[in-house]
Amino acid sequence: MRTIMQQKQLEAAAFFVSKQLKDEPTGHDAAHIDRVRLLALNIAKREGGSLFIIEMAAIVHDLIDEKLSSEWKLSPQELKQQLLLWEVDKRDIRYIMDIITTMSFRRRHMQHKPMTLEGAIVQDADRLDAIGATGIARVFTYAGAKGEPHYTNGSHLGSVLEHMQEKLLKLKDLMNTHEGKQLANERHEFMCLFIKTWKEECGLTDE
Ligand code: ADP
Ligand code: NI
Repeated sequence: MRTIMQQKQLEAAAFFVSKQLKDEPTGHDAAHIDRVRLLALNIAKREGGSLFIIEMAAIVHDLIDEKLSSEWKLSPQELKQQLLLWEVDKRDIRYIMDIITTMSFRRRHMQHKPMTLEGAIVQDADRLDAIGATGIARVFTYAGAKGEPHYTNGSHLGSVLEHMQEKLLKLKDLMNTHEGKQLANERHEFMCLFIKTWKEECGLTDE
């Protein structure tokens, strides 16, 4: 359940983010946010948690990602100011900020800090959007924006294929929730088939 006030806050945040990230070129665009928001709410139907916290955290989760260039990014302080401007409860702001800073912290440093149910759900939703057909599309978007090659025939430069094999194929085993795991398994299978076919077409053999 979300109160009318909370629904207005979610709408305001979604509008702000859709403008802020509209043309973001590395796969953190507004469409990614929309998908993560829906995925998180779908997982929450099965897993529970505060729908307002989950939805708001999903909407704002990439605004402070350090990977974004300054044109798109907000500082944590600026994001808190925005949330205050929309009159989000101060305790909820702390909860939401904790979720989104823990999400990116874990991703980068693989630290283990206890996660809330809401945080676990939003992280699963974000990870689901990195795999399956959508995940494949996003990797090529990222690589196009960064000038990264599709594959490197054994050299040690980063590549799409390396990212898929070293990072994305591992995500299904890192899911937090039961529902997230189920959804990740289907997407994982599709990605495996894509990688197998792609490697065959390109004459790439397994190392
Ligand atoms: P998010 O913040 O949404 O979790 P990331 O910042 O980790 O996503 O990455 C954004 C998108 O770019 C993801 O789809 C991810 O798989 C892809 N990506 C990240 N790093 C690389 C890379 N080195 N090569 C190709 N794709 C990448
Ligand atoms: Ni994201």
